[in-house]
Amino acid sequence: MRLLFAILYGLLSWFWSRSSAHPTLAQPRPLVIWHGLGDTYNAPGITQFMQSIKDVYPGIFIHSVYLNEDGKEDRKAGWFGNVNQQVFNVSQQLSDISELEQGFDAIGFSQGGQFLRAYVERYNSPPVHNLITFGSQHMGISDIPACRPFDVLCQLARRAAKGGVYGEWAQENLVQAQYYRDPDQLPLYLERNQFLPSINNEVDDSMNATYAKNLASLSKLVLVLFSRDTTVVPKESSWFGSYAPQDKDGRSSTVGEKTIIPMRLQTVYTEDRFGLKTLDERGDVLLETCEAEHMQITPECLQPLVQKVQ
Ligand SMILES: *[C@@H]1O[C@H](CO)[C@@H](O)[C@H](O)[C@H]1NC(C)=O
Ligand SMILES: *[C@@H]1O[C@H](CO)[C@@H](O)[C@H](O)[C@H]1NC(C)=O
Repeated sequence: MRLLFAILYGLLSWFWSRSSAHPTLAQPRPLVIWHGLGDTYNAPGITQFMQSIKDVYPGIFIHSVYLNEDGKEDRKAGWFGNVNQQVFNVSQQLSDISELEQGFDAIGFSQGGQFLRAYVERYNSPPVHNLITFGSQHMGISDIPACRPFDVLCQLARRAAKGGVYGEWAQENLVQAQYYRDPDQLPLYLERNQFLPSINNEVDDSMNATYAKNLASLSKLVLVLFSRDTTVVPKESSWFGSYAPQDKDGRSSTVGEKTIIPMRLQTVYTEDRFGLKTLDERGDVLLETCEAEHMQITPECLQPLVQKVQ
């Protein structure tokens, strides 16, 4: 979802505190950002975000990931496309940028967060040092979010996804379908979903040990959840939480409210399938909260969390 302007003020304060904490740092580490659904790599919000960082952190190199240099097409690629192919294309894009050769920090907004995590697990060349994700869907979504009025692309994608989220066409062409995870249809999800079960190493006989090795090579993984998020269902997905499957009568174990399986009780965590447990036990997974709606990044939220990453 679109980045809101509140972030600008927040980031200014963040980078002020970073640069004053490292007055002797000659060249700040480059930064790569991957925008969220509905945004484009060169949207005003993203460009101003980059500029505000450059203003207070002179000399920093920032790259905004794109799937198409044409902004309209790039926005469309947020809804339509094959995510595995998109992450692969971005890995090539990043490896072609000489400024990133020595590695970089990365910030993923919303779905850009799990895509950057996929980059780390599968490619990580050049390597990511710190990965910060804001309101990302690391354990998938159990509902396709509503669209703003008159957002035709969004409505098209939503209707198609609702029509058959695990169908072959949806899995090739609808981005949200590729991180849709229905807790009451896990076997179908594991069999059909082309993206999320792979990066979460959820499929027993196609586990990839490289993913765990690469993820654990991060310095820090910062997972930011928005406390009033109604776009990401459940919002705990930003912290690797998911709904528990309902019992056989279709009831969830808590009346009126669905039960959340938190990160540390997820099988993929307890079995350390992709390095998350290793990273967490080292103290390098930070679970942070923004007291706000989806993608409303306020200074109150940003300042304390970033001091921990320095
Ligand atoms: C990936 O890059 C190729 C070659 O540039 C392009 O034809 C293709 O459309 C891109 N795919 C995606 C999903 O961005
Ligand atoms: C595991 O992932 C790495 C990195 O993406 C890839 O090069 C390798 O082919 C994968 N291995 C298997 C068995 O799929």
